Amino acid sequence: KPSLAVDVAGIRMKNPVTTASGTFGFGSEYAPFVDLNRLGAIVVKGTTLNPRPGNPPPRIVETPAGILNSIGLQNPGVEHFIEAALPYLRQFDLPVIVNIAGDTVEEYAALAARLNGVPGVAALEVNISCPNVKKGGLAFGADPGSAAAVVQEVKSATRLPVVVKLSPNVTSIVQVAEAVVKAGADALSMINTLLGMVIDIRRRRPVLANVMGGLSGPAIRPVAVRAVWQVYRALKVPIVGMGGIVTAGDALEFIMAGATAVAVGTANFINPRATLDIIEGIERFLEEEGIKDIRELIGAAHR
Ligand code: DOR
Repeated sequence: KPSLAVDVAGIRMKNPVTTASGTFGFGSEYAPFVDLNRLGAIVVKGTTLNPRPGNPPPRIVETPAGILNSIGLQNPGVEHFIEAALPYLRQFDLPVIVNIAGDTVEEYAALAARLNGVPGVAALEVNISCPNVKKGGLAFGADPGSAAAVVQEVKSATRLPVVVKLSPNVTSIVQVAEAVVKAGADALSMINTLLGMVIDIRRRRPVLANVMGGLSGPAIRPVAVRAVWQVYRALKVPIVGMGGIVTAGDALEFIMAGATAVAVGTANFINPRATLDIIEGIERFLEEEGIKDIRELIGAAHR
C-alpha cells in the first residue's frame, strides 16, 4: 500500500485529509457516519473567547453554484470547547486543530494563551478571514499589516504550531501570505469562503439577513486551486488546501498545486462520509499511478 502520511508544520497526519472548520462540528456530530480514527486530522468549529449567538437568520442559502453562509461565528466559547468537546475527541488517534477567531488582537492572543498546553490540542488555526463579522475577520485578513499583527501576538502566546487561514476576498493573497509567514505562521490554510450575495426577486431583498455571505462548494474550487498554486510558488510554507473539494481528484488538484494536506468542507453536508471516500480515492489513484508516497505529488503541477 502507498504511504499517505504527511507532516504539516509538526502536525503528523496519517493521511492528508482533514475537515474544514465549521463543517464538521466538534467531531461527535459526524461519528455515526465516520470513524474519526481514519481522518488525517480534525479542524473543529471556530471558537471565540466568549459564547457568541452569531448573526440573525436567515443565514444560510443554497444555490446551484454552492452554499452561502453568514453564520457570524456562532459558538459556545472556548471553555465549553475545552470542558465538553475536547474530552470526547481525545479518545481518538487524531490531531485536533482548534480554529480561533476574535474581534481584537488581544482576543486572539488570549485564546492562544488559553489553549497553550491543553492536552489534546495539536495546533491552532487562526481565522483572520471570516467574511461575516464587522470586527475581526476580514478586517485583519484583508490587510497584510493587521494580519501580521494578529499572527505575531498569537505566536508569542503559544508553543503550538500556528496555521493561518487566508481569505480569497483580497487583492493579493500572496501579499497577505508573505506578511503572515514573516510574522511567524508555521503553515497556511486556504481558502475561506468567497464573499457573495443572493437576492430574492419577489421580496426584492437580499436573502441573507446579514445581506452578504461566504460562498463555498465546487464553484470556488478553481479560485482556491489558483490561490494555493500562487502561494506555493511564492513561499515555501506548508499549505492546507480547501475550497469545493468533493472527490479524490479534487483533493489531488490541490496537492499538485502545492498543498501538503487538504480540508473537506461543504461536501460533508451533502455526503457525511465524503472525507473517507476521498481518502480511499487518493489511495486508489496512487496505486493506479504506481506512486509509493503521496509526498511525491506535493507541488507536482509546478515541475
Ligand atoms: O464562511 C465562513 N463562515 N467563514 C468563516 O470563517 C466563519 C463562518 C461564520 O461563522 O460566519
